Amino acid sequence: MRIISIISLLLTYVRFATADPCADIAGKAFVPPAAALACLKSFPFNETLRVNMMNNAARVLDFYTFEEYYLKSPPPFQESTVNIRATLARLNATAYETDYDASWDLYMFTTQMNDGHTRWFPNCYNSYQNVLPAPVITASVNGEEGVYIAPDAVEFISLLGEEYTSFFDSIHFNWTRLAGAKVLAIEDQDPYAYVDTIASTVSGNYLDHGVRVNSVFSSYRISGTDFSQRVGDLAGPIGVVQTAVKFQLIPVGSTSAETVTVPFLANFIGVPFTDAESFWANNCAANEATNGVDNKDVVSAATVSAKSRLAKAEIIDLSNSSAVGLPQQFIPTLPPVSGSTGVIKSYILPGNHTGVMFVGSFGGDFDAFMSDVVQTITAFQEAGVTRLILDLTNNGGGFVCLGQFLFQYLAGSSFGYPGFQSTTRGNILAQKIVASDIALGNDDTITFYSADNWAFLNGTQMPASYDYLDPLVPFVVNNVSDPTSQRFHDTCTLSFTQPIPENPPFDLELSSARKCSKQSIVGNGNCASTCAMFSTLMNEHFLTKNAVFGGKPGENVEFKGMAGNQVLEWTDLDSEIKTADLDDDPLAPPDLLISGNFRVNWRTAWSFFDEQKPIAYVSELPRFRFPYTFDTYNNPQNLWLFAYV
Ligand SMILES: *[C@@H]1O[C@H](CO)[C@@H](O)[C@H](O)[C@H]1NC(C)=O
Ligand SMILES: *[C@@H]1O[C@H](CO)[C@@H](O)[C@H](O)[C@H]1NC(C)=O
Ligand SMILES: *[C@@H]1O[C@H](CO)[C@@H](O)[C@H](O)[C@H]1NC(C)=O
Ligand SMILES: *[C@@H]1O[C@H](CO)[C@@H](O)[C@H](O)[C@H]1NC(C)=O
Ligand SMILES: *[C@@H]1O[C@H](CO)[C@@H](O)[C@H](O)[C@H]1NC(C)=O
Ligand SMILES: *[C@@H]1O[C@H](CO)[C@@H](O)[C@H](O)[C@H]1NC(C)=O
Ligand SMILES: *[C@@H]1O[C@H](CO)[C@@H](O)[C@H](O)[C@H]1NC(C)=O
Repeated sequence: MRIISIISLLLTYVRFATADPCADIAGKAFVPPAAALACLKSFPFNETLRVNMMNNAARVLDFYTFEEYYLKSPPPFQESTVNIRATLARLNATAYETDYDASWDLYMFTTQMNDGHTRWFPNCYNSYQNVLPAPVITASVNGEEGVYIAPDAVEFISLLGEEYTSFFDSIHFNWTRLAGAKVLAIEDQDPYAYVDTIASTVSGNYLDHGVRVNSVFSSYRISGTDFSQRVGDLAGPIGVVQTAVKFQLIPVGSTSAETVTVPFLANFIGVPFTDAESFWANNCAANEATNGVDNKDVVSAATVSAKSRLAKAEIIDLSNSSAVGLPQQFIPTLPPVSGSTGVIKSYILPGNHTGVMFVGSFGGDFDAFMSDVVQTITAFQEAGVTRLILDLTNNGGGFVCLGQFLFQYLAGSSFGYPGFQSTTRGNILAQKIVASDIALGNDDTITFYSADNWAFLNGTQMPASYDYLDPLVPFVVNNVSDPTSQRFHDTCTLSFTQPIPENPPFDLELSSARKCSKQSIVGNGNCASTCAMFSTLMNEHFLTKNAVFGGKPGENVEFKGMAGNQVLEWTDLDSEIKTADLDDDPLAPPDLLISGNFRVNWRTAWSFFDEQKPIAYVSELPRFRFPYTFDTYNNPQNLWLFAYV
């Protein structure tokens, strides 16, 4: 069977290898990765485009708050250590054969910086997601943890549809028999060693290696406002680099090990095209949305939607693009309480003592999130709930102020300021931007840099005319001087549209060391940005019981992934520069000639435990670790019932 499938893959490839490899795959939702790669590699290397991309990257990274930490990343995050400037210089001087090779190299480099806020996304080459019909999980079976093909692979993968599954029928590859198989080796390595490799190379987004290990596995989540299952980074990576994965495994019902090479099939997640020319025009060339604008020109203060100016801290999970639902039978069967139609899904567990809020993200509708929280907590109180479980599994973050809202609501208004001390980087262009915004009379309706976005540490909102980058505050990281702005607070309470109770709705005191006390957080550590700030607030102020499921046995997993304070997309940063009339400044990143996004972590949140340390670099381990089981990895309700028993 294996030989036949490899031959048919080769034949497929030969058939595709015509004059325009893009025309051959146009209009198809699923294609063999080699065929997609032939299209992506059909565009020759162009030095103008490379230098444009690299100069944009270099000047955007001037704003990167954590740049100097990378010279020697503190433990346990030492894996991310890299000299960013030396690497940029190397990528800028490497001889590449194709445009793809240059862009993919920068994509991989920024991915491996492991900060979901600071990455290069080339739309051209992020246009396919490989999908293996054998997602993997880690689970405890008969008391022993191991790697398995997801037992629900048939129900889950079938949701990708006939176009996906019929390919495997056509090459006579029976993937359904692999569901639930025990994996003994992957690519001739111990399965967890291979998982570690994927976590180090493909996953990105999270400084902590253990958190990335959990992204390698398939897991449940809320995508948008729906229950969903993530394929995982081994079986669902962005790009078409790999054509197959070799497993040694024991299928369900068998007692003997066998070797199976499972082919990938790539899912097109870009903009439709008909040939190489239209592929380039629709996916690769810069368009009107690629670069920023001068907000003074395009918007009068009245037309700026307040929402577009709200600070965000979230990752981009491109593998989300081909998200399919969680198979119906694994969606919670308890009746949802009111306030569950958005990104939060809430339930009361049998007995009415415990309320569960599955907070899928801090995104979606800004005001609806707040009213959902109020409705949910009110429903919990009416039912007599005294304990709260917050499920933060695969919460990719969202609006900074929604994290602070949820924390403030649970802590009560008497708690005071619900955020962190914050700074931006004091580079020369940043100083010019703030000075220029003041001179031009710009304010928070059209910029993020204006001081009225922030408050002094005593809580008073700064006037727009205040220059918080003059004087700079000296700071040294890894023996490199890296001054910051003055410290400031967020002004989130100004955006809260629901009243905050004065006292906590649930008792915040710690009860005895049971598996779960009155408030607990469960998750898989994939809790990014705003989610990381929220769970850090809960931990640093209330010692909330954090429990992380999954991970590699014997290896730590942090309960939060990455905790940058605010991300600016390239368009956001470019708009800041243009709105300050500084686009001709020699330090300004050039407008991109290609369609892509170099986003950057623009603010640091400082830890309460040690105000000289960004929370991103403070190791905070969960109080509890549990393995997943076949009953919990894809079944949130089963996991909550396990957690509260
Ligand atoms: C390289 O790209 C630039 C910018 O799009 C374009 O003007 C130029 O013609 C390209 N060079 C070649 C050799 O295709
Ligand atoms: C890349 O190389 C070009 C010269 O080919 C140079 O002008 C540019 O400054 C370099 N950019 C970076 C980021 O090193
Ligand atoms: C695939 O394997 C499963 C489980 O062994 C079996 O029930 C099914 O009939 C097989 N399908 C085909 C097309 O051989
Ligand atoms: C995942 O996709 C949904 C639906 O398109 C979107 O609302 C959500 O923001 C995405 N999440 C991430 C982390 O990219
Ligand atoms: C739980 O609360 C619901 C209504 O909120 C009520 O109908 C039900 O009887 C309660 N169950 C128990 C076990 O108290
Ligand atoms: C807060 O601090 C700022 C800056 O030091 C000061 O101007 C302001 O008067 C203070 N506000 C209060 C209420 O003390
Ligand atoms: C720190 O940097 C200074 C120069 O800025 C240098 O003289 C000194 O040797 C460095 N110290 C270490 C430990 O690298």
